[in-house]
Amino acid sequence: MLDFTDKVVLITGGAAGIGGAAAGIFARQGASVIITDIDLSMAQARADEIKAEGGKAEALKCNSSNCDEVECTVKSVLERYGRIDVFVNNAGGTHGAIHSGDIEDYTAEEFDKVVKLNLYGLFYFTRCIIPQMKKQGGGSIVIVSSGAGRTTSRSEVGRIPYAPSKAAQLGLMRQLALETAPENIRVNAVAPGLIKSTAYIENNWLSNTEEQKQATLNKIPMGRRGLSEEIANGIVFLASDEASYITGHCLDINGGIIMM
Ligand SMILES: NC(=O)c1ccc[n+]([C@@H]2O[C@H](COP(=O)([O-])OP(=O)(O)OC[C@H]3O[C@@H](n4cnc5c(N)ncnc54)[C@H](O)[C@@H]3O)[C@@H](O)[C@H]2O)c1
Repeated sequence: MLDFTDKVVLITGGAAGIGGAAAGIFARQGASVIITDIDLSMAQARADEIKAEGGKAEALKCNSSNCDEVECTVKSVLERYGRIDVFVNNAGGTHGAIHSGDIEDYTAEEFDKVVKLNLYGLFYFTRCIIPQMKKQGGGSIVIVSSGAGRTTSRSEVGRIPYAPSKAAQLGLMRQLALETAPENIRVNAVAPGLIKSTAYIENNWLSNTEEQKQATLNKIPMGRRGLSEEIANGIVFLASDEASYITGHCLDINGGIIMM
């Protein structure tokens, strides 16, 4: 069993979907879980669910794209918990720049918004958390990237800014892994394929016709979408002591689509 007893775990975008599922698993394995999200009421609801199941969880409002909010959030967590053992950078996506246009249809502001969330958000958080991990003698970071960052996005939605920002997360992951390995900090990533996660993602999926959905599923060797828990299990494994010799690695969790 993966044991997180007395570990402090901070998960961004943990109100629902992949982050919400990971929060639940960490808490069941004994961790104190801090869920940050732009949507405080949903994050609070997820923390309450975890507490009702006997786990330890707290919700904080934090927009990952906002440098000041990230700094205040990490400071407040460290003042109260004294350490962060695991950091999961999960908040991300195409939020704010969603259309299926060609590159000329994107504005610079839309591109900025997505890169700010996926790449800068990761930079803001790791810049605050890594010094603490060095001080405390180590830690583990798991980044939720995407199959879009490993190869290309197969989605018609928001692909122009999304795919490169997810690829850039993997570049930062490898560089941080290299530079922090001597400090006993491991930095890894997961790259989910097509996942049934939040209501927002589900609405995108449901906006496809039956033919479009079937054509997408036909491209996946396992013939189905993944579940949030199937990504969360990979996140928790990479964060655990069982993965103690793994760093700089991206775990593809996608029903085999990476082979196609
Ligand atoms: N669902 C998929 O098919 C899929 C595939 C590949 C990668 N991913 C990645 O997985 C991660 C989680 O996605 P998901 O599908 O579980 O749900 P999601 O993309 O709908 O969002 C997850 C959570 O992030 C929060 N969030 C959004 N913007 C934020 C911000 N600026 N600051 C803080 N929180 C914010 C949302 O409120 C939500 O609770 C994302 O990084 C996404 O890019 C998802």
